[in-house]
Amino acid sequence: MNQTKDVQIKEAVKAHYGAFADSQLGKTAQTSSGCCGGESSCACSEKLYSGDYLRLVPEEIAQVTRGCGNPIALASLKPGEVVLDLGSGGGLDVMLAAKRVGAEGYVYGVDMTDSMLELARQNAAKAGVENVQFLKGDIEALPLPDNSVDVIISNCVINLAPNKGDVLSEAYRVLKPGGRLAVSDIVVDPDLEGLPVSEAQVRDALSWAGCIAGAPTKSEYERHLTEAGFEAVEVQPVYRYTLEDAMVEIPESVQSLPREVASELASRFTSSSIQAVKPA
Ligand SMILES: C[S@@+](CC[C@H](N)C(=O)[O-])C[C@H]1O[C@@H](n2cnc3c(N)ncnc32)[C@H](O)[C@@H]1O
Repeated sequence: MNQTKDVQIKEAVKAHYGAFADSQLGKTAQTSSGCCGGESSCACSEKLYSGDYLRLVPEEIAQVTRGCGNPIALASLKPGEVVLDLGSGGGLDVMLAAKRVGAEGYVYGVDMTDSMLELARQNAAKAGVENVQFLKGDIEALPLPDNSVDVIISNCVINLAPNKGDVLSEAYRVLKPGGRLAVSDIVVDPDLEGLPVSEAQVRDALSWAGCIAGAPTKSEYERHLTEAGFEAVEVQPVYRYTLEDAMVEIPESVQSLPREVASELASRFTSSSIQAVKPA
């Protein structure tokens, strides 16, 4: 992908999530509730996490998710582990991970959007969680040393990165040998072939910031993970979106399609669980 386009995508993503964080910080009018009003490619906390998770943090923090799954449930975190959350947003998964790894463990969140980092630090202070740190950085070039992390988690972020191969190579670099990756993300399954609109038309009409346009196919995700060096690669669709989920501000090219075709298109976008291991 060309560099100018990459920069434009990242600026659009920062503007989108910066505006959300600013509204949460009370700097601008609230644009939606804690749920993802209007873009249900991500969802309300209650749909993604059971109460057992959400009770661990103050309610106002529990509501701030822009995720599409529950990577904490996938990660099987153990006391003492060092965890890294790629694209930590308001910090909910970082705080939930911190509760799991306990005082002898540590959790880093990396995010490129200043207001999201401010929100996450404020939330961690409110929740009284101390074994966490939020770092500014691009997940395509992680600000952490080689072999320094036991587990990488991420929730609905890697689809937003223009260079997914770089993200997964960086994840591999910072993981300790034997370390694991447990990610929730939007994945196209199987692909966008065989529809009356071309893949390019669909992707061009969608917004990257809404977690849809940049969603890789299942086989692309598996290929990037394998090329990065991971083993035991598993990409498992968990939920298929429906038109009713209104997961996109549905572009005209899709609105004009017969309903069954539009539904078929929507159902190819999934919330998926992604797991892989760095060889010991
Ligand atoms: C959909 S939100 C998800 C936030 C959080 N994981 C959650 O579950 O609520 C995406 C987040 O990833 C961050 N992000 C997107 N692309 C990034 C990149 N290339 N590097 C670092 N952060 C990124 C955005 O700033 C935003 O906070």
